Amino acid sequence: RVGPIAVIGSNMVDLISYIHRMPGEGETVEAPDFRMGCGGKGANQAVAAARLGSEVVMVTRVGDDVFADTTLRNFADNGIDTEHVLRTRASSGVAPIFVDPESRNSILIIKGANALLTPQDVEAARPAVARCELIVLQLEIPLETVRAAMDLGRELGIPVLLNPAPASPDLDIAQLRSVDFLVPNESELELLTGMPVDDLEDVRRAAEVLLEAGVHDVIVTLGARGALWVHEGGQELIEAPRVQAVDTTGAGDAFIGCFATSWVRTRDIAAAIRAGTAYAADSVTRQGTQSSYARA
Ligand code: RIB
Ligand code: NA
Repeated sequence: RVGPIAVIGSNMVDLISYIHRMPGEGETVEAPDFRMGCGGKGANQAVAAARLGSEVVMVTRVGDDVFADTTLRNFADNGIDTEHVLRTRASSGVAPIFVDPESRNSILIIKGANALLTPQDVEAARPAVARCELIVLQLEIPLETVRAAMDLGRELGIPVLLNPAPASPDLDIAQLRSVDFLVPNESELELLTGMPVDDLEDVRRAAEVLLEAGVHDVIVTLGARGALWVHEGGQELIEAPRVQAVDTTGAGDAFIGCFATSWVRTRDIAAAIRAGTAYAADSVTRQGTQSSYARA
């Protein structure tokens, strides 16, 4: 096993409705299919990494409901260390998701217990995090907790990967100094920099602003087009394999879990991006979030 990798972030239970169309106000429409599964950006990235051979330490909060039991069992089934998964008197995070016939998704998140993960929880996990080779973060927990995790990474000399998702207007690029790998999609990049992202040249320019802010490597995920890696020495477009998409939910998380594992194993960023794009492309050919992530 490689790592360990620390994932400090969210977990949700995904309630995925496959719909023909969204109902209008006051309207009831029938949808053909439904699937419940484990999700949440943090948990998704953790599970992808674990399935590909990483030892994973998960720092998160679950609620006190049946969703919490499902999530805890799921972490255990995937061999994830749950010593720092805390039970909380709250509802668990849940995500009603709607996937249309073109495989486009709309996601609602109700953070529940995830909103109660504190900087003190991160501090309590310090001994476990200190053994890790990479810290992986997203934005479904309070920003002050994300900041505490970035600070802990810098203090311990552990590289930090931040996936600034979902896009948050409160994240300021001055706070990204201790981020080694920043992995936004195009809309997150646009919100972070206030710059247009209409073509690859725009994306590169916006990513360069983040390099100036102190980020080491910016990896912009571009959906079916792959990913653009922008670093001090230049840029590289890594194309994704062409596939028939069924459900793209959680594809970005699949990319990150795979990238993290591959980078910790090889320290080769380009190779890790290639592995991540292939793994994410494979995941979109199947329904569901974690249920679509392959095992190594
Ligand atoms: O990135 C996909 C994830 O976003 C889903 O699993 C859902 O839970 C939301 O957190
Ligand atoms: Na999928």
